[in-house]
Amino acid sequence: MIYPQANSYRGTKNLSGPWDFKWDPQNLGIKKKWKKGLKGSKRITVPASWNEQFKETRDYLGPAWYQTHFNRDSNSIGRKVFLRFGSVNYMAEVWLNGVRLGSHEGGHLPFVFEVTKHLKKKNNLVVRVEGYLKPDRVPPGNVPPGPLDSFNNNFNPPASFDFFPFCGIQRPVLLFTTPNERIEDLTVTTDISGKNGQVRVDIAASVSLPSTLKVSLEGFGWKMVSEAPLKNGKAAYLLPVPNAKLWGPGSPNLYQLKVELKLAGKTIDQVGLPVGIRTIRVKGSQLLLNNKPIFLKGFGRHEDYPGTGRYLPPAALKKDYANMQWIGANSFRTTHYPYSDEDMVMADRLGFLVIDETPAVGLFFKKDGLARRLKLCRQFTRDMIARDKNHPCVAMWSLANEPHSNRPAAVPFFKNLAQLARNMDKSRPVTLVSYLGTPEKSFKFLDLVCVNRYFGWYSEPCDLNKAIPRLSKDLDAIYRRFKKPLLVTEFGADALPGSHAQPPAMFSEEYQREMISRYLGVIKQKPFVVGAHVWNLSDFKTAQATHRPNGMNYKGVFTRQRKPKLAAFALRKLWNKNT
Ligand code: GCU
Repeated sequence: MIYPQANSYRGTKNLSGPWDFKWDPQNLGIKKKWKKGLKGSKRITVPASWNEQFKETRDYLGPAWYQTHFNRDSNSIGRKVFLRFGSVNYMAEVWLNGVRLGSHEGGHLPFVFEVTKHLKKKNNLVVRVEGYLKPDRVPPGNVPPGPLDSFNNNFNPPASFDFFPFCGIQRPVLLFTTPNERIEDLTVTTDISGKNGQVRVDIAASVSLPSTLKVSLEGFGWKMVSEAPLKNGKAAYLLPVPNAKLWGPGSPNLYQLKVELKLAGKTIDQVGLPVGIRTIRVKGSQLLLNNKPIFLKGFGRHEDYPGTGRYLPPAALKKDYANMQWIGANSFRTTHYPYSDEDMVMADRLGFLVIDETPAVGLFFKKDGLARRLKLCRQFTRDMIARDKNHPCVAMWSLANEPHSNRPAAVPFFKNLAQLARNMDKSRPVTLVSYLGTPEKSFKFLDLVCVNRYFGWYSEPCDLNKAIPRLSKDLDAIYRRFKKPLLVTEFGADALPGSHAQPPAMFSEEYQREMISRYLGVIKQKPFVVGAHVWNLSDFKTAQATHRPNGMNYKGVFTRQRKPKLAAFALRKLWNKNT
């Protein structure tokens, strides 16, 4: 999937800003044909969740209606015109000038409609959004409590996952144009041999006449150009890069790829893409980046910010990376859903390795709804890989977080998804993140083992002298069982900002600091552990529950306003070699 771009052949128009907005608690909008235009609406900011933009709607999950107007740009005449939503949570239905363009299910990946034939000089775009929590959606909600299918968290709203089910148009909405005959998609895979790199570019184009492709790759004072005819709309290039500047944490070297489509010698389309030359693979009990062992130091995060909900404003995104760099982290997991395009671009540019995770959190494997959950997980796995496959930052694909895998149906479910991921991308490892550990049977056919551990918090509360030895034995047992590299993908403790206790007590900053430090002490002794991700980078909004004061999860080492707690300083001492 090529991200919209502007050049002599393509254009973009960002529709972000104030939109009209209307609640629809009685669900009257469809019958009353609000698709033709909203009356008596208020103003809302797009992108951002609606929940924290108004005082009365924190827990309202829809339906609600959005509307905006835009003029057709002159440079779109004679081109194809598309409408791209970065993400809408959870269900979206879209009309342009009263004509239904279609609908989309799923809250964290882009979707596109071609609008060429519906465009007028002045246009009215209407979107209906609802975020109902249902057991046969992904992620699920309103799941009947039970030891095999959900944690008995008793959340309100009734999510089967621990983050607030924010709703709305939560990422930018773009109009973009392409030529009628155009480059459809690019797939870049990179390899290394000795000091040299190799960039493979697979290109698909839709053209009606014989044409050629001109491919250029340049960077660091080096450039190469290659031109070849297109056969049946496809072409593949192998570009050798002598003395390649490799991509990785600390050296996010990016080359610039440019692809031109030429008809009778005249360029009719062009796309550009940054390329990071690197390899990532599992070897024995190690994770290798560019054929050298790498240890992933980092965090689980959330796209979460006061007022904007699930939308991270650019300055907040930049601040999160500044905080991770200050601590000395080199990686994160997109917990528990694919993050924004902008986040992935920043990870490429700043050299962070990313465990890219689908929105499959809290999955359960009871028969009812299972086929639909698998269908949705396949859609989200496919869309995530299609969107992110060319980002050098993506180190591996995570198929799920904490599935309730105790039912037998879990193994064929994940076998199906692992196969899909591997068919789409042979260049990256595939994993899932489990709370089970040794009983997680799917680890037998996945490339790495990822486990979340909270001994000393949800068990052995405030008793690290019991919890730490248990952690050590547990990690050894998991490695003995699977003999694969192991990532501790979550560990941590809630710490109310400014809460202190001596001796350390639960919910104090001192206990959070001590628990994280002692976990890292154990992890350091395990050569088969290839990464440690603290839960969480920042405090984040979740649903109301007795174990979530103020509807917040306080396991951040930074507050929701991105201010450091004691644990952040301790982590910096352990991870940032410049301290
Ligand atoms: C789980 C889960 C997180 C959750 C965390 C916690 O491991 O993956 O989403 O926030 O535990 O309970 O804090």
